[in-house]
Amino acid sequence: MVLLVGIAVGRALVFLQAATLGYLVWHLFQIHQLWVWLRHPKTITPVRFAGIWREVFESIEDRLRAGDARSIPKHKPRRRPKPKLNWVVKQFDKSVSGLSDAAVLLGQDDEVEWWNTPANKLLGIGRGDDRGKQVTHLFRHPEFIGRLRKEKNWHKPLEVPSPVDSNTWLTILVVPAGKNKRLLQARDSTRLHRLEQVRRDFVANVSHELRTPLTVINAYVETLLDRDDTKALPWYPILPKIHRQTERMEKIVGDLLLLSGLELAQKQPRQEHVLVAAMLEVIREEALALGTDLHHHIEIDAQPGLGIVGNSRELRSALSNLVFNAVRYTAASGKIILRWYRDDQGGYLLVRDTGIGIDARHLPRITERFYRVDAGRSRETGGTGLGLTIVKHVLAQHDAVLSIESVPGHGSDFTCHFPPARLFENGNQPPQGKIA
Ligand SMILES: Nc1ncnc2c1ncn2[C@@H]1O[C@H](COP(=O)(O)OP(=O)(O)OP(=O)(O)O)[C@@H](O)[C@H]1O
Ligand SMILES: [Mg+2]
Repeated sequence: MVLLVGIAVGRALVFLQAATLGYLVWHLFQIHQLWVWLRHPKTITPVRFAGIWREVFESIEDRLRAGDARSIPKHKPRRRPKPKLNWVVKQFDKSVSGLSDAAVLLGQDDEVEWWNTPANKLLGIGRGDDRGKQVTHLFRHPEFIGRLRKEKNWHKPLEVPSPVDSNTWLTILVVPAGKNKRLLQARDSTRLHRLEQVRRDFVANVSHELRTPLTVINAYVETLLDRDDTKALPWYPILPKIHRQTERMEKIVGDLLLLSGLELAQKQPRQEHVLVAAMLEVIREEALALGTDLHHHIEIDAQPGLGIVGNSRELRSALSNLVFNAVRYTAASGKIILRWYRDDQGGYLLVRDTGIGIDARHLPRITERFYRVDAGRSRETGGTGLGLTIVKHVLAQHDAVLSIESVPGHGSDFTCHFPPARLFENGNQPPQGKIA
């Protein structure tokens, strides 16, 4: 049509170009409309001319109405596909179930919220529908129940037999896990428990077996030492040496037996009322006798009438170990202070010396069996390295802890901290306050 008009007026080419341009502008206009409309499909209504573009607009509108969102490129950012939560939970479940340790998530009232497969085998949790049940109804060990109620965060694991099989031993720890929740972990420690038992039995049996022959040898040596007719013999000078060594061996054997006894003892030691001030007086006399030639000054500053409920023999052994150490490792004329006092947090027994001190690097290991800072020096003073191990065990039996502070060359502070529940004071002590 345009071409015919162009030919009629003799400007065919110009008319053709103008028509092409107009057609292009029209399409561009439609594309622009489409673009604006797709951005705001609800607020803008495009002008629809008959033809291909009308069909395009109507077809898109139909799809929009049908809610076929997949085919409509919305300007609004598309919602991200939902994280595959179930998948994640399943994977987590699988991985924790693969662990050999049991894990149980406890809610704020210690109700069971979640568990893994080993919890089933080791603790018997999850055999029925245990979700929401109190863990203490499912695992009724009294020590476990006591600690769960008392301690929010356990620093020390608990060793108890499994409720499923009493031959299986478990090491249990409960730690906070998020707001008001706790995670109970249980590990099968049967093998370790058996090894410990073998070691304990072995040490106890060997020490026991050695004690009699040693006593006999010592008795013979003492007899030989006392006889006048042996003094002239050429081998006489070695007799005192044999005597010293057998005495030392007797002490080691005695300490090992004491340790075995402490390890085998029931968690609840004998409940005697031990007056500490009086016990310290007795120990001071013994300590002065131990180092008569050293002229130490031992001062006692103890709250009279304040005592510990526990085993007097064990406590005496622990305290004398600490005081004898202070004497052994303090040079002549040194000062030693024995203090016994209390505050709201409990009772404190401090043994302070002005001796050689201990380098900080030895402190973490000093309570280990046979650990000595200077083996040569300890041997000289008759030390075997079992004293502080005994102290640690006795304190543990009495729910107490030992802390050590020391400055090499200046002295050491050994402090035993007893919880308030272990203390008694004048007025609530029995009439026959007992000391060792
Ligand atoms: N008050 C102290 N000052 C300096 N060092 C000490 C003190 N108490 C203990 N030690 C160091 O710690 C080590 C371990 O002490 P522990 O009492 O366990 O063993 P011991 O004194 O050597 O022997 P024993 O079994 O006869 O007590 C000692 O060998 C000593 O090196
Ligand atoms: Mg010692």
